[in-house]
Amino acid sequence: MLVVLKKDYDDVSREAARIVAGAIRAKPHIVLGLATGSTPQGLYKELIAFYHEGSLDFSRATSFNLDEYLGLAPTHPQSFHYFMEQNLFSSVNLPRERAHVPDGTIAGNYEDYCERYEQSIKSAGGIDLQILGIGRNGHIGFNEPTSSLASRTRLKALSRETIEDNRHVFANESEMPKCAITMGIGTILDSKRVLILAAGRSKAAAVAKAIEGPITSSVSASALQLHPDVTFIIDEEAAYSLTQRDYYRHVLEMTKLFTPERLS
Ligand code: PGA
Repeated sequence: MLVVLKKDYDDVSREAARIVAGAIRAKPHIVLGLATGSTPQGLYKELIAFYHEGSLDFSRATSFNLDEYLGLAPTHPQSFHYFMEQNLFSSVNLPRERAHVPDGTIAGNYEDYCERYEQSIKSAGGIDLQILGIGRNGHIGFNEPTSSLASRTRLKALSRETIEDNRHVFANESEMPKCAITMGIGTILDSKRVLILAAGRSKAAAVAKAIEGPITSSVSASALQLHPDVTFIIDEEAAYSLTQRDYYRHVLEMTKLFTPERLS
């Protein structure tokens, strides 16, 4: 695990964009795992800027989003389809037919749909680089506390905390979906590389538990300790409760010196 400490949100976004752009340039047929939420917005802005200046090409890439609210059509302004359209897809040349976001409008056989989502990830060759945010309760995707660490894409009931964190964007609480389709923790752990971003003091407790706490289904992000190639990029506020900050800086210096390719 690499822990990269950055000053603020803009630095987190720039560092993440540097790594994601490098991965796309190194493997134009890359399969990206994408996240929504306020955290990756800065990263997407940076990637769009690279695309506009002509230094980044998404034409051969494929993407799979982590999750979508159940019951929201792609045109709903709070749907994750809409978010991705607004924040990335409409501004870069990622082919729409290869930009996958779980369908929130399915009704009935959820298991069958989720199994097919898993299969399409496998058919695409698996996720090369998964981008994640982290919830205040330590969730990744919509894998709420007590999600099985081996879970796959499925229908998941949202926790009270998640509903509270997100309901401000809905006109009233009754409009806020109570369930979502989400990749599982097992799905995320299958990706070849994970980049997880966090900024702000509200994330400090979850970040500390994920990095320094025990592996537990009570903090879904702690499962990333089992992944062989995970990089946390966090700002000073989100790093506030970490006890080993000096060590992480030292590791980063040594990584730059001896295995700089790990940072590219
Ligand atoms: P945020 O959400 O980026 O909007 O803080 C992160 C998450 O809940 O995974």
